[in-house]
Amino acid sequence: MLSELIDFLGSLHPLIVHLPIGIVLLTIAIDVFMRNKNNSVHRIITLGWFFSFFSGLLAALFGWFLGDNGYYFESQLGVHRWSGIAFVSLCFLIWLLKFLNFRFSKSSTRFVNLTAIVLLTITGHFGGEMTHGQNYLVENLPFAKKKISTTSIEKDRRSEVDSLFVYEDLLQPVFEQKCMACHNSKNTYGGLNMSDFKSLVKGGNSGAGIQKGNPYESLIYKRVSFPHDHPKFMPPAGVPLSYDQIATLEWWIDNGAKKQLPVSLARKDPKIQRLMEVQYGLDLREKSFLETLKLDPPSKTSLKALEEDKFMWRFLNPEESFLDITYTRNTIEKNDLISLQQVKNNITWLNLSNTNLKDDDLGYLVELPHLTRLKIQKNSRITDNGIKAIKGLENLSQLNLYGTGVTDAAFESFSMMKGLKKLFLWNTRVTPTGIEKFKALHPKVEVVAGLR
Ligand code: HEC
Repeated sequence: MLSELIDFLGSLHPLIVHLPIGIVLLTIAIDVFMRNKNNSVHRIITLGWFFSFFSGLLAALFGWFLGDNGYYFESQLGVHRWSGIAFVSLCFLIWLLKFLNFRFSKSSTRFVNLTAIVLLTITGHFGGEMTHGQNYLVENLPFAKKKISTTSIEKDRRSEVDSLFVYEDLLQPVFEQKCMACHNSKNTYGGLNMSDFKSLVKGGNSGAGIQKGNPYESLIYKRVSFPHDHPKFMPPAGVPLSYDQIATLEWWIDNGAKKQLPVSLARKDPKIQRLMEVQYGLDLREKSFLETLKLDPPSKTSLKALEEDKFMWRFLNPEESFLDITYTRNTIEKNDLISLQQVKNNITWLNLSNTNLKDDDLGYLVELPHLTRLKIQKNSRITDNGIKAIKGLENLSQLNLYGTGVTDAAFESFSMMKGLKKLFLWNTRVTPTGIEKFKALHPKVEVVAGLR
């Protein structure tokens, strides 16, 4: 009962504070602007100081009740509290002296009035900061840049989405900034300590902080998503959580609230994926093998090994490390295949179509670890045995075998190529049944085969 009364009186503080502000300003105005003061004017001024003192005292008392409930940061409260008390004391002193008919000189009147106004300003400003948030004054200036409160992830980490975790990288920094001043291992308001994962999940006096899989039963989620004027809204002082922070929290709890839930899981949910991309600047697109690959460019001398009248080559990327090579003559020789080995790390696309390539020659291609596209169409001497030799090319995504001698037996080798996405089999000896069987097992591989 008593604590409820105290809470009630505390809640009157923001109302009451306006009384001493008005009264003291009016009193000072009368003092300054009324030149010829008779006795009744003096009496009014004395009375004004008394009411300033009395309403100030009430405001301070109610303010004390309000500050005691733990809803404010001690660091902000300190200055506000003591300058408020200084103001009330000053009013009391002035009233007492005036009541005892002490005659103030002109300069001391000016000094006293000025001091009262300064104290009032300081008290009011810090009080405002607590209710409206820090920087509330400057942030509404027309030329002020609005700072939107999002978690910033360092630039070079944004591209490494796979090593980011929802709790550790997105939520924990927010909790630290907005909650932990009041919920840490020393200050545990409501019995809640948010400074480590375990106790945060455990919660406080009234229940679980996090109920895995259920945001609406999780106190931490509930408290931050109340309307801002709800008495249980958190944080009670300072900057509230932004929309994206609340949405991230909800999504994280929905997905099991693991300490190490990877951010990349957002790819499963288009809404959250967009939020991650827009609000946190994360790049969540699936990367192809080449996008994740970093290679040194080939040396000038190794490129010379490719004789100009036989090979055509170009770079596929601005870093000049991925090579696209085409053989231009009709019949490829062993020596040509050996010279390819000079740049084997850099070959990503290779075109050996219509070069009289044989099964034996394909053995040289297994040595190309970064090969992603291989064109060996129109080489009728290539059979299933040759394909067997290159089944270990695990980054190969496109393989063109149009016009070769492969049969259904080659599907076993295709199955081993883990990166395979597109397969050209037009004009070969594979059968529709063979293709159907393969497609059933590997639905992600596109087979292009206009069968005879
Ligand atoms: C300025 C101090 C302060 C800050 C900052 C603050 N809280 Fe609180 N919090 C309190 C006080 C005081 C209580 C106890 C009274 C109550 O339950 O409202 C409390 C209670 C809670 C409770 C209820 C615990 C229980 O089991 O009863 C939760 C949950 C909570 N806070 C979450 C948060 C979250 C999340 C943040 C950050 C967004 C936050 N708080 C920031 C002061 C603070």
